Amino acid sequence: MEKNDIKISKSFYANNLIKIKEPLFIFRNISKSFFGKELFEDVSMSMSDGERIAIVGANGTGKSTILKIIIGLEDPDQGSVERNRELKIGYLPQETHWDSLKNTILQEVRSDDSETQRRITYLLEDFGFSEKSWKRKISSLSGGEKTKLALLKLLTLNPNLLILDEPTNHLDLQTIEWMESFLSGWKRGIICVSHDRYFLDKVCDKTFELSSNGLEKYYCSYSQYLEERAVRLENRELSYNRQEKYLKKQQEFIDRFRAKASTASRAQSRIKQLEKMELVEKPETSKGIKIRLDFEIKVCSRVMEIKSLLVGAEESPLFITPERLEVNWGDKIGIVGRNGSGKSTFLKMILRCQEDDRKEVKLNDRIKLGYYAQGHEELDPEKNILEEVTSKSTVEEEKIRNILGGLLFSGKDVF
Ligand SMILES: Nc1ncnc2c1ncn2[C@@H]1O[C@H](COP(=O)(O)OP(=O)(O)O)[C@@H](O)[C@H]1O
Ligand SMILES: [Mg+2]
Repeated sequence: MEKNDIKISKSFYANNLIKIKEPLFIFRNISKSFFGKELFEDVSMSMSDGERIAIVGANGTGKSTILKIIIGLEDPDQGSVERNRELKIGYLPQETHWDSLKNTILQEVRSDDSETQRRITYLLEDFGFSEKSWKRKISSLSGGEKTKLALLKLLTLNPNLLILDEPTNHLDLQTIEWMESFLSGWKRGIICVSHDRYFLDKVCDKTFELSSNGLEKYYCSYSQYLEERAVRLENRELSYNRQEKYLKKQQEFIDRFRAKASTASRAQSRIKQLEKMELVEKPETSKGIKIRLDFEIKVCSRVMEIKSLLVGAEESPLFITPERLEVNWGDKIGIVGRNGSGKSTFLKMILRCQEDDRKEVKLNDRIKLGYYAQGHEELDPEKNILEEVTSKSTVEEEKIRNILGGLLFSGKDVF
């Protein structure tokens, strides 16, 4: 598939329909907590047809939950949600869900209505699923293809608002570009959660930041939001400091005059005055992640050597590495390529090279490998955070707790 080979068949999306004048939805002062842990409170928002809003914020702040409240999959604990009667949402969840991975592409999108079926056929072509591929099973699709098919399925419902929860996770660069180009042509509403700065800059022109302080709105792209946010924070700090200085002076005045009967009333009225003042809260600078890595001193120069390694199954290799690849101490190497081209397989072959006694990979004996897997498949969902980490480590518990704290896992979270 070529880079921007998407030709949006305009009449097949809701793009050409007349826009809805009234807001698509409004929610007022909503709050939400799970098991007594408050995610957010007093959040209000409304949205018009054609708006393109990014929702950003740290993991776990409740972005997905906000999306689910808009859709009606979750209810707020407090506050009201109103939805336009004409609102039709197309929702792409953070993890795509398939009833059966044995279904073929065609079975997944089949419709009894002949007009809808005709539209679907066009969409399939538009999305790069040629007729040849229609018999492929869902289980054989790459992550990117699955996301595309899920998007296609929801477009057949003719939505006027797309709600996309981290749509570019697991996509290769090419499919991300495809997605950007598709969404640029989409003229109705979009709400998108993502951590991909470049993607957000292309797709959304408003950026709403969710944190424990609520939803703060910036009417600009993500990049501009980062700048604007720094300015807002600085201003808040300035006015907070000014206020603290003022309060200190007032307190000194009160302390001085309160004791004497002749001046006590002046102190009293000053106290009343202060009580009425609306106070600026101390601006919260978000806690950053702190990681300290105790690098060992250089243990070798040549870390690894790979010679013409056949990646994939022997009968049908995905690719063969160059005649000679070297990794030296301190190298930082990026591996790029399409989904399904064999990047993870390559890494796994390196990981297992000693057990498999693979001659093409020579790993220096002094090297200890650390591996971070794509789908968190190394993690045991039954264990709590501390159990999980201690079970695979020989480091003392206290040290582990310190490291976890630096990663913002603290107190109750750890058990
Ligand atoms: N249905 C639920 N039941 C209990 N806890 C939940 C549920 N949905 C989300 N949470 C918790 O609420 C927090 C916010 O979740 P989420 O909305 O997925 O955040 P985000 O999308 O910003 O990462 C997380 O700590 C998550 O574990
Ligand atoms: Mg989420």
